[in-house]
Amino acid sequence: MAGRIPRAFIDELIARTDIVEVIGSRVPLKKAGREWKACCPFHGEKTPSFTVSQQKQFYHCFGCGVHGTALTFLMEHDRLSFPDAVEDLAGRAGLEVPREGGGPDPRDRQLDDLYALNANVDQHFRDALRDSERAKEYLKGRGLVGETAARYHLGYAPPGWDAVLKKFGATDAGRQALLAAGLIIERSADAQKSSGPGYYDRFRDRVMFPIRDSRGRVVGFGGRVIDQGEPKYLNSPETVLFHKGRELYGLYEARQQLRNIARLLVVEGYMDVVRLAQAGIHYAVATLGTATTPEHLSRLFRVTGDVVFAFDGDRAGRQAAWRALETCLPFAKEGRQLKFLFLPDGHDPDTLVAAEGREAFEARLDEALPLSEYLVRHLSAEVDLGSVDGRAKLAELARPLLARLPEGVYRELLVDRLAREVRMPAPRLAGLLGLGAPAGAAPGPAAPVRPRTARLSGRGSLASQAIARVVQQPAAAREVRHPEGLRLAGDRALDVLAELIEMAQSEPHLSSAQLVERWRDRPEHERLAELAALPLPDLGAEATGRELAAAVERLTAQAGPERRLDELIEKAANEGLSDEEKQELRELQARPRAPG
Ligand code: CTP
Ligand code: MN
Repeated sequence: MAGRIPRAFIDELIARTDIVEVIGSRVPLKKAGREWKACCPFHGEKTPSFTVSQQKQFYHCFGCGVHGTALTFLMEHDRLSFPDAVEDLAGRAGLEVPREGGGPDPRDRQLDDLYALNANVDQHFRDALRDSERAKEYLKGRGLVGETAARYHLGYAPPGWDAVLKKFGATDAGRQALLAAGLIIERSADAQKSSGPGYYDRFRDRVMFPIRDSRGRVVGFGGRVIDQGEPKYLNSPETVLFHKGRELYGLYEARQQLRNIARLLVVEGYMDVVRLAQAGIHYAVATLGTATTPEHLSRLFRVTGDVVFAFDGDRAGRQAAWRALETCLPFAKEGRQLKFLFLPDGHDPDTLVAAEGREAFEARLDEALPLSEYLVRHLSAEVDLGSVDGRAKLAELARPLLARLPEGVYRELLVDRLAREVRMPAPRLAGLLGLGAPAGAAPGPAAPVRPRTARLSGRGSLASQAIARVVQQPAAAREVRHPEGLRLAGDRALDVLAELIEMAQSEPHLSSAQLVERWRDRPEHERLAELAALPLPDLGAEATGRELAAAVERLTAQAGPERRLDELIEKAANEGLSDEEKQELRELQARPRAPG
């Protein structure tokens, strides 16, 4: 890859870009007061809830919750990668995108060579398929027609140890490239003793599935044995081009086939993807023999908010499904639909769609279990809901899971659903789960020590408000005297707040969008973008600054005692407290608190 794009350039690009123009060229915007409005391009609606703020250089949809800068918009709307979105804006502004390190990166040349090698080997496998009756018979036997094989570039690696090696590895550089692409394997030391130094082809006598990235470049291969043999599937190893935990097999082909991908179906196997496509279901993708990763999910949700996971109905399938659910939790929020489909025993999507056809299969997708329902059912099955103990256990099991959901309507609905299950008022359950009760809710009568996370989230909302103020109006940061005091608390949110204030102070002209772009590669980026998009009244930099300074003072004043309180609670749980410490704990808990 080329070197990183310098941060200063992103700043300049944002400063030179007008988000209203960028979005306006794709979506008809209407002026509404100081903002611009349109029907949201990311979800179907009849009354406009998509707004674009010229001042913040940010967009936000009140309907589905999408938000971001001009770069985010291009990434989501035009489905561009970050560097491509930068190129696009730079092109409009007539700027050349510089790269850190300067000059063309020599690694670029090398990568280009590897892509070209993969493309040539892909063609080689496809030619070999045309020449092999055996391989063609096999695919026909699996119900595939030529058109499908062509669309997915299916190929064949003939038997023998060195077809690829001979054709592409005549020179030393050629062999090094084959090795780097994972297409040949170096003989073991033992074998080298007897037959001298050498290499052999990785893929032999296998049906080949090229794995293409979002731009259609071949990054790796999967190969299936034709009859019996181990392993059934063999994949390219991790290489500079190929990272299993990131690629989704079939996504490129789905994009080629469908103008608009409304839904994605995640399955396990290559054959499932290909067979589904042949049945007219072009929106299936497969992870490559690995569990679903957060990177997979980010990629999926960049394409659509509607994702269904299909799993076998057996034990292994149910285990894999639960693991996928856990990975999905941080991604579950309003505007997104995550569902789980359990297939009948003995079937995978390939055999099922072959047996019952597209319509029946799609009906199953419509009926799949929503994440919330799956979560509640799975947990309920582990406890006796008839007993008080069992219901308490359910709440206990749900706690760590709910804590991983982003705050918001989705989580609230799930708490409601769970509250019905454990027969408890929802605010009370939320309190017990440490999720913080909504304002105005009476605290439960039997809450001896406030749970640790509830206290954090009480403080969290004041911190969030303060963060929202800085990202919305970076100029307000100049009113803050000692942001470093926030770091005393050892709390992530306050550390972030301190860093934001310091950034905004050292560069007084940063805009909201520039500040948020600085965090693009960090875990807090999404949350910051969300806070930047919040429709807060604009009080002007000065008044906002005063409020911000007051909030920072309160947060700093709380930081010391809060930390001590954490220590004492921790100690109480682990080794117990002395009488003096118990007294200190009572005093700390009784002390007046700034409203969160
Ligand atoms: N897989 C793999 N390595 C293996 C086995 C499986 O990478 N040794 C991956 C492949 O992506 C494969 C998927 O897991 O497509 C599912 O494997 P499996 O259920 O064993 O096979 P099927 O997809 O049902 O394959 P087929 O229908 O061709 O028998
Ligand atoms: Mn199968």
